Amino acid sequence: MISINTKENKFRELLSENLDFKGINSVYSSHGLHAFAAKFPPQLPRMFIENLTQEGDIVLDPMVGSGTTVVESCLLNRQGIGIDLDPLAVHLSKVKVTPINPEDISIALNEITNSLKYLYLGTNTVRNELNKRFDSETRDFIDYWFLPKTQEELMTLVLVVENLTDETTKNFFKLLFSSIIITKSGGVSLARDLAHTRPHKDKFKKPVNSVDTFINKAQKFICNKNMFFPNGGTSFLMRGDARCIPISPNTVDLIVTSPPYSNAIDYMRAHKFSLIWFGKALSELRELRSKYIGAERASDFKNDGLPPSVVELIDKLININRIKGKILGKYFADMKLVVGEMYRVLKTGACSVIVVGNSKMAGMDVKTHDGICSIAKDIGFKIVKVGIRNLDRDKRMLPAYLRKSNDKGITNRIHEEYIIGLIKE
Ligand SMILES: C[S@@+](CC[C@H](N)C(=O)[O-])C[C@H]1O[C@@H](n2cnc3c(N)ncnc32)[C@H](O)[C@@H]1O
Repeated sequence: MISINTKENKFRELLSENLDFKGINSVYSSHGLHAFAAKFPPQLPRMFIENLTQEGDIVLDPMVGSGTTVVESCLLNRQGIGIDLDPLAVHLSKVKVTPINPEDISIALNEITNSLKYLYLGTNTVRNELNKRFDSETRDFIDYWFLPKTQEELMTLVLVVENLTDETTKNFFKLLFSSIIITKSGGVSLARDLAHTRPHKDKFKKPVNSVDTFINKAQKFICNKNMFFPNGGTSFLMRGDARCIPISPNTVDLIVTSPPYSNAIDYMRAHKFSLIWFGKALSELRELRSKYIGAERASDFKNDGLPPSVVELIDKLININRIKGKILGKYFADMKLVVGEMYRVLKTGACSVIVVGNSKMAGMDVKTHDGICSIAKDIGFKIVKVGIRNLDRDKRMLPAYLRKSNDKGITNRIHEEYIIGLIKE
């Protein structure tokens, strides 16, 4: 058992190290299975898990995204718990921590290629499914973003994947399917850039054949000797809301998490391109999206209980742009709930790492990390140190406006991330 003082000193040392992880290999183990906007370099959660917990300890990420923290927890024989509102994030994280044998993939791939011979493009089965599966709004979305030929290819793939009997293999192939759509360049859709703040349609784009791309990816996976799944530790992944964490008080040994930045990345904008193919209606996804922290919506929020410096920042933005100010207010009100929940579930003496970047809203520089630090302090956390890391822009799959490299001033500062180190005393 390490004493609180020793742990705090170690934590401070870690936060003072170079946290850029520039040029490192971030795709070992199962980390490279699927693109995900603004994911951690795996070495980031790893250094905190390795140094601040012991084998068997519980590590939580309440906004788990692509599961980086949980994969690293398992690799280090800890118990990883991951929560996220986003169905794709939870599916992706589950696949990443569920060992699957390349031989089983090979057998399933044979099954798939055999089924494809019978159920190939243009058959009535495929067309009928395309006609009956989607409500009219979702259908219009598909017609706008996918060429008719691509729609038939994708529907064919959905049918053959659904036919697989083994759940682990089926989940793996569902993820593979998603990975051919969700790429920086919009994959087989007509979107030009799914990491953009808004996807842009490129009507001249000639998407590659989806079936061939899918098969090639599966074959690459089978041959990839660097790819391995964690087989130590345990993991528990679930859909849920970080503002209301379903874990008993004083249970968790470490939290490593990264909330969305305010107003920066709209996960559902990209993820719906894949989720609709597996039965989610656009209306359902829209409803879910409104619950995401950092979503661009100006609902009412209560200032009460937020620290005066945060209220001042929100009021300043409201004076410049009322809607943006309210979006920021809702963001901090949500983050207050999240940080409160983190405090509740952590054991006394346990550490928490929150990684967050600044935002630019209505031309104003919003120092999100300062706001979160004030909130955390009010809740009872001790701020150990705030580390800074420079972003590897291309690797983080950030929206275009956060990726421009030649801007001055605020946009340059957005290329930094803040690693907030907190301890529950
Ligand atoms: C910056 S990403 C996390 C990336 C993650 N660190 C990784 O390495 O992949 C933020 C995540 O917060 C999730 N999120 C947003 N609002 C949430 C909420 N209320 N509860 C739980 N998760 C939420 C988003 O779906 C997204 O997956």
